[in-house]
Amino acid sequence: MDAMYKYMLAFLLLFGSGVGAQLSLDPLSAAVLRGSNVSFKANVTGVWKVMTWNVGKLLVLTILRTDGVIESLPRYVARNISTGSAGGAWEFSIVDVQKSDTGPVVCTIQGPIGSKTATLQVQERGTIKISSGNQTVNQDQQAEFRCELSGWFPAPEVSWLLDGQPANTSLYNTTFQEQGSTFNGTSVLTMKAVRDATVQCRAFLSAANDLQTVYLSVVPTPTDWTVLIAVVLSFSIAALLVLLIILIFFCIRRKKEKEKELREGRLQGRAVAARPRNGTINLGFAMDDRTSTDQGPARTHARMTPSVERDLSQNDDPRIYQIPPVDNPARNGANDFPGGENVMEYRKHRHLTHV
Ligand SMILES: *[C@@H]1O[C@H](CO)[C@@H](O)[C@H](O)[C@H]1NC(C)=O
Ligand SMILES: *[C@@H]1O[C@H](CO)[C@@H](O)[C@H](O)[C@H]1NC(C)=O
Ligand SMILES: *[C@@H]1O[C@H](CO)[C@@H](O)[C@H](O)[C@H]1NC(C)=O
Ligand SMILES: *[C@@H]1O[C@H](CO)[C@@H](O)[C@H](O)[C@H]1NC(C)=O
Ligand SMILES: *[C@@H]1O[C@H](CO)[C@@H](O)[C@H](O)[C@H]1NC(C)=O
Ligand SMILES: *[C@@H]1O[C@H](CO)[C@@H](O)[C@H](O)[C@H]1NC(C)=O
Ligand SMILES: *[C@@H]1O[C@H](CO)[C@@H](O)[C@H](O)[C@H]1NC(C)=O
Repeated sequence: MDAMYKYMLAFLLLFGSGVGAQLSLDPLSAAVLRGSNVSFKANVTGVWKVMTWNVGKLLVLTILRTDGVIESLPRYVARNISTGSAGGAWEFSIVDVQKSDTGPVVCTIQGPIGSKTATLQVQERGTIKISSGNQTVNQDQQAEFRCELSGWFPAPEVSWLLDGQPANTSLYNTTFQEQGSTFNGTSVLTMKAVRDATVQCRAFLSAANDLQTVYLSVVPTPTDWTVLIAVVLSFSIAALLVLLIILIFFCIRRKKEKEKELREGRLQGRAVAARPRNGTINLGFAMDDRTSTDQGPARTHARMTPSVERDLSQNDDPRIYQIPPVDNPARNGANDFPGGENVMEYRKHRHLTHV
């Protein structure tokens, strides 16, 4: 009870002295385009008699709580927006905002309530033009787009869009110069032409933004056939070389094998896989006149049936033993030669049977 009484007393004291009266201003800052209208609302709680509005250094409008607007300069208006509660509310408007309106907008209540200040910025929409226009560029060449901006205030934020997506800021540079009360500028976008794209230059101010669109057409570079052919050729040549090397390697190996076989064949005097030419191998043949002293006891020489026996020791090829097929009972022993390590030398004979 005691506390409540204290609060009530404090409220009465404040209300009675007018200390609790307040002025609120909304908005406290505004940015509008030149030529448009802008409004500020002032709300006063408490007792007041006179409200004045200053724009820049000029007192432009005076309101009496009881009579409304009593004096104003052209382009400045106010209307009663009070809701019937204590105090009052007024909307102050500037019609056809001019550059000179830029600066503080001050609402003052005569008396202890005092004043509130808002800030007005008057922006200006300039022009925007991609002076380079539509471009046709060869693939992978650099494409350069110039965006010319003129008559903006303040200098707008410039950005580029490629196919609607913001371009990397590293792709463009923007410079502005103050030209009288406005700004001129140029933004240059340099990019590699990869594919067709819509290119947009955008100027942004809080009160205005503008966009210019051009198109980039990319001419695909014809496929470089010489390079392709060179690549294919070099690959083919490489493959051929590898094949050739493999072939040569195998040839050499085969030759060596053959020579080895030949040597062994000669040494052993063995008939090595002879392919008959005009006859068949006489399986019953055997070397004769062996000079080795180390002959095994089981040595059995299959002798040819009587026929022409010609010494062909001059013939180097031990495989040529051509005789017509003879059903020789001694064939089983035909290849029964000794190991060969001790065989020093023997003559080769060619046994031919002429029918
Ligand atoms: C600005 O206000 C004037 C007067 O109220 C009105 O005639 C005009 O249409 C308004 N202009 C804009 C852009 O709202
Ligand atoms: C003024 O302020 C009072 C108290 O904050 C509020 O009740 C009233 O709605 C406001 N009036 C306007 C027009 O904003
Ligand atoms: C402003 O509006 C309020 C509420 O409608 C009203 O009580 C008051 O008389 C008006 N003031 C003027 C000066 O017209
Ligand atoms: C660019 O091309 C588009 C359509 O391809 C066309 O509408 C536009 O006028 C062209 N712009 C310029 C500056 O040539
Ligand atoms: C922009 O480009 C730079 C260098 O070219 C790169 O490091 C960076 O990641 C890029 N930023 C974006 C958002 O792609
Ligand atoms: C932007 O300007 C800087 C410095 O002048 C330069 O190094 C850079 O290459 C320019 N970038 C573009 C996209 O023009
Ligand atoms: C800026 O604008 C003025 C007037 O429109 C023009 O004469 C001047 O060449 C422009 N400067 C640039 C850098 O664009």
